[in-house]
Amino acid sequence: EKGIFEHFMLKEIHEQPTVIRRIMKGYIHDSSININQSLLNDLKQSSRIYILAAGTSMHAGIVGKKIIEDLIKKPVEVHIASEFAYNTPLIDPNAFFILISQSGETADLRTCLTKLKKQDYKTLTITNVITSTLARESLYALEIFAGPEIAVASTKAYVAQIAMLFILAYALSDKAIDIQYELSKTAQAMENFLLSDSHIRDLVVKYINTKHAFYIGRGMDYATSLEAALKLKEISYIHTEGFAAGELKHGTIALIEDKTPVIAIISHESINLNTRSNLEETVSRGAIPIVITLESLKSDGDDIILEDVHPLLTPILTILPAQLIAYYASYELGYDIDKPRNLAKSVTVE
Ligand code: F6R
Repeated sequence: EKGIFEHFMLKEIHEQPTVIRRIMKGYIHDSSININQSLLNDLKQSSRIYILAAGTSMHAGIVGKKIIEDLIKKPVEVHIASEFAYNTPLIDPNAFFILISQSGETADLRTCLTKLKKQDYKTLTITNVITSTLARESLYALEIFAGPEIAVASTKAYVAQIAMLFILAYALSDKAIDIQYELSKTAQAMENFLLSDSHIRDLVVKYINTKHAFYIGRGMDYATSLEAALKLKEISYIHTEGFAAGELKHGTIALIEDKTPVIAIISHESINLNTRSNLEETVSRGAIPIVITLESLKSDGDDIILEDVHPLLTPILTILPAQLIAYYASYELGYDIDKPRNLAKSVTVE
């Protein structure tokens, strides 16, 4: 049921703080983590972790790579499932595989899993549907407790996947993080941001008549740019690219025309100035700059400001304005927001 919301997508966007609190309840008890010990041991003993996924779940995987590498200092590779299935890279013999899938039914991942099982690799599925094929057929499964996701464009499952990867990495690390505090603070910051989204709608109305749009960012913000661009293009049909901020000038900047919106995501001090100067490069070619950033990094004229949270959790927060931009763009253009053309909720063919 949509309740007070006009569309499932908007309802699911607003459910996200609750989803974070629910996953905390599922896995954190009195600051200790409740995750199958043999899963943790197998992950600890592996020399390298491979993450396989598609679409939005793959973007959560890219964020997860940063979180895991930061917290446990083990190399992580992220692969697109459909590529991995038939163009398998060289695999470390002591590898552990994490498959991320909201539905747990994605055909590309099922093909990967069949091949991995034949070679006796250990596998974990992170999913929203614990009764799904992937959950049943992999060695381990972790449920993300996002609740049924009805809108085709994935929102709450994405943030839940990132939260799950954070909890899992924390369980394997010896870092002193007050995980309950950090996740609660993130959920609260999400809630505060979602209390008023009218300025996002105004921004969208102003720039809706564009053929192209770009999201740019570095590091974690690059991963968020990819996901932000996918959200906007899949439901508004505005051609949108997510780009590594420093890479744009190596060719793609040729596509910037007068009044092309370029949205920079900036959530870390170390990349703040560089990303801003990349944004300036597009402005001098006619782009309209929009900045999504944090309170501690804001500067005059920034458009969308979020509260500061733990540096590994910023992707959970910075994706919110991008989800709303996508929603309002589709809304203003009069499209079927929950059921975009050419797309299905679960992709069960290769
Ligand atoms: C985009 C979207 C898709 C899915 C992808 C994988 O909003 O929902 O990109 O993320 O098809 O689906 P799952 O996670 O079910 O394997």
